[in-house]
Amino acid sequence: MFESMSFYITTPIYYVNAQPHLGHAYTTIAVDVLARHMRQRGRDVFFLTGTDEHGEPVADAARAQGVEPQELADVNAERFKSLMPRLEASNDFFIRTSDAQHEARVQEVLQRVHDNGHTYKGLYEGWYCPRCADFKVENEILEGNRCPIHEIELERHSEENWFFRLSTFQRALERLYAEQPDFVMPPRHYNEALSFIASGLQDVSLTRARLQWGVTVPWDPGHVFYVWFDALLNYYTALSYARPGEDLTDRFWPATYHVIGKDILKFHTVFWPALLLAAGLELPRHVFVHGFLLGADGRKMSKSLGNVLDPFEVIDRYGTDALRFYLMRDVAFGGDGAVGMEAVKARYETELANEYGNLASRTIAMLQRYRDGAIPQSDTDAGLARDFAGLDARVAELMDIAEPTQALELIWQRVRRLNRFVEERAPWQLARDPAAAGELDGTLASLAEGLRVVTVLLHPYMPASTERCMAALTASRDGAAQSTFARAAFARRAGGGAAVELEPLFPKRT
Ligand code: MSP
Repeated sequence: MFESMSFYITTPIYYVNAQPHLGHAYTTIAVDVLARHMRQRGRDVFFLTGTDEHGEPVADAARAQGVEPQELADVNAERFKSLMPRLEASNDFFIRTSDAQHEARVQEVLQRVHDNGHTYKGLYEGWYCPRCADFKVENEILEGNRCPIHEIELERHSEENWFFRLSTFQRALERLYAEQPDFVMPPRHYNEALSFIASGLQDVSLTRARLQWGVTVPWDPGHVFYVWFDALLNYYTALSYARPGEDLTDRFWPATYHVIGKDILKFHTVFWPALLLAAGLELPRHVFVHGFLLGADGRKMSKSLGNVLDPFEVIDRYGTDALRFYLMRDVAFGGDGAVGMEAVKARYETELANEYGNLASRTIAMLQRYRDGAIPQSDTDAGLARDFAGLDARVAELMDIAEPTQALELIWQRVRRLNRFVEERAPWQLARDPAAAGELDGTLASLAEGLRVVTVLLHPYMPASTERCMAALTASRDGAAQSTFARAAFARRAGGGAAVELEPLFPKRT
């Protein structure tokens, strides 16, 4: 199959009405894992994240704090921006929707939607959630007129607005879904989106008259655009100014993957493709929808329930790699999952320290003890080679369908296999028998090769620890070149070079 070289992947842009929390970290880490994996495969990757700064949620929060919206946005955008390096996120750009270039481009695209006849002026009346910045349709509303997401009481709003003729895209969207069953993944979310469309699309309001904190509507300057339209367009506008003096749109548009939480499904799988069609722009290839992180008690995380896991606390205690590993391993990507500090500790101790960390330490220690650090050149073990055969291709296939948890499980089975191999071969016994020198060479070469392969494959998940391990294992070679995906296959003949001492990758924590 033809694989396009460019790979454009995005996170949702995060609201600046509050501080970053684990949910934001989760999506960002998942996207980073996919982006790093694709870079290893030599794809031309662009990874975008950023902040959503306009609209009621931010204006209301600013008012409550007695500051201007821009001031609140500046403070919180900085918090999100500085979250990225702490997560080791390798984003290529950080967009803020209050960037002047973004605003100008939004006006340009939506003017085109207007010129193409997809808007009209009308009176809007409906039930509105100020936290979602969204009017709710009847079948979404909870008992007692409450928001299905925030469970707060909805407000009755009525105002004169410009409307977007979403209803006229019903057929086009049905066709899109019929022709591209992988437009939304996983399938249960495809079905959810499709049934929303099948239930009949209503036009949606495109502008707000009561609000000033937003992008001005060029053909009716008393209005600003409804924040969701301004926000969705970030995926498109960013490419035009992320690199000064260069427009990356042709190189990366359309997006390969929009990764989102299930709370914002409707906007990305219904509004967004319709808006792009209205503007005459190409549609993204896939929208990947993941689930919610829940408190350790299985309930939705919330400060008032006291079941919140703080990403910074995890990073301070166990390190960024442990947080990344834990989130990708413990919560099956795509589904909901409970998270808590006890579970982080358990994964850290049993899997990171005792399995991968121990494999790395003992392999390098044995190379030093028995071969002065030299990695013997030898044929590798046939049984191990069989167990590793096809692993790289399978991991790539899973990453292509945004299944980082399943891919990690396959890799981890090999980490465990290598530890069993050490026990089976008992190199410490071989070392006592001069006649077993060849067998010891083969054992050490196989172990070093296996460790090298799992380290390459784990790199997107745990960039810092795997880089340290790779550097120790390839001391006399170019470590970066060793980490490309082309080097992810288990070789039948391996070895050469030298290994140097490695401090424990995952030391004991209190
Ligand atoms: N600003 C909008 C998105 C606009 S995209 C054009 C928004 N922002 S948000 O700050 O509320 O972030 C929502 C996203 O953060 C979710 O879609 C999800 O990716 C992530 N998460 C927030 N809380 C989460 C959990 N409890 N669990 C998992 N992900 C969560 O919506």
